[in-house]
Amino acid sequence: MKLVILGCGGQVGWELQRALAPLGEVIALDHDSAPHCGDFTQPEGVVATLRALQPDVIVNAAAHTAVDKAEGEPALARLINATTPGAIARVAGESGALLVHYSTDYVFDGSGDAPRDESAPTGPLGVYGQTKLEGEHLIQASGCRQLIFRTSWVYAARGANFARTMLRLAGEREQLRIIHDQVGAPTGADLLADVTAHAVKRYLEAAGDASRAFPYGLYHLVASGETSWFDYAQFVFAQARAAGHELAVREVVPIPTHDYPTPAARPLNSRLATHKLQQAFGLRLPPWQQGVARMLAEIL
Ligand SMILES: NC(=O)c1ccc[n+]([C@@H]2O[C@H](COP(=O)([O-])OP(=O)(O)OC[C@H]3O[C@@H](n4cnc5c(N)ncnc54)[C@H](OP(=O)(O)O)[C@@H]3O)[C@@H](O)[C@H]2O)c1
Repeated sequence: MKLVILGCGGQVGWELQRALAPLGEVIALDHDSAPHCGDFTQPEGVVATLRALQPDVIVNAAAHTAVDKAEGEPALARLINATTPGAIARVAGESGALLVHYSTDYVFDGSGDAPRDESAPTGPLGVYGQTKLEGEHLIQASGCRQLIFRTSWVYAARGANFARTMLRLAGEREQLRIIHDQVGAPTGADLLADVTAHAVKRYLEAAGDASRAFPYGLYHLVASGETSWFDYAQFVFAQARAAGHELAVREVVPIPTHDYPTPAARPLNSRLATHKLQQAFGLRLPPWQQGVARMLAEIL
């Protein structure tokens, strides 16, 4: 069994290398994976790589994730988030490979306060969400065997993330102002990778047994529960203090989104309903606090 991971150096890509390793031969590619091309600015190179490698499973964790930067470079964001994933999906369609791809809560406009399921109308607020949505559509149109996991607020022990930034700022400043009116679920790259491995294992088992159908499709995949950036930060500070860390911060002020303008608008409501995934794959998604506490224990 041959599995190719694209974008292997990112938060999710890194965890995928660990989680997929027991399932077969894993080939992990990034921008500069000579002699193979894993650079999403060159779709024809990525296509040639996949045709040469002939994997059974392709897991795409590469993306243009710099949400504010994407506003100023929509053509590049579209190439990485939509055009190249679309080309990969066509190769998967030709060869019969399974394509696993990740998308985002930013495909929604964030109105209301109810969790959205997979059938909810989309309405991206910016270039990142728009190009990620176009990527979903191109993959769906290809007709390849596919799993698309929409997730939110991804963190990992490795690399930059909100918790790490908060810890740094809380060590430097006495007052912090943090957005309180955006609500979502912090989701660990390790959870995304582990659920992916579970789904891929099930796919490989179903492939060898004609009597077993496999639930291809689009799924929402986030940790359970919800929080705001403000409450998430408070959780991080409480965990740090409980672990014996001295923090300079004395006052944490909740602010509305409009007091912190950014080039890209963010959805206020990032709640995603996950019952479809939990039922289809027989999984339970743990509370967000569990994964964040583990990640903090690792980095503190
Ligand atoms: N991060 C979040 O909060 C979040 C939320 C919802 C959904 N998602 C989705 O989850 C998936 C994984 O995200 P993540 O958090 O792991 O993102 P990440 O840490 O930013 O990783 C993205 C990876 O893509 C690579 N990449 C960027 N441009 C590329 C190019 N031209 N060719 C090849 N690789 C390229 C990056 O490499 P460099 O770092 O070297 O540029 C990086 O390794 C993405 O589909 C993302 O849209 C993420």
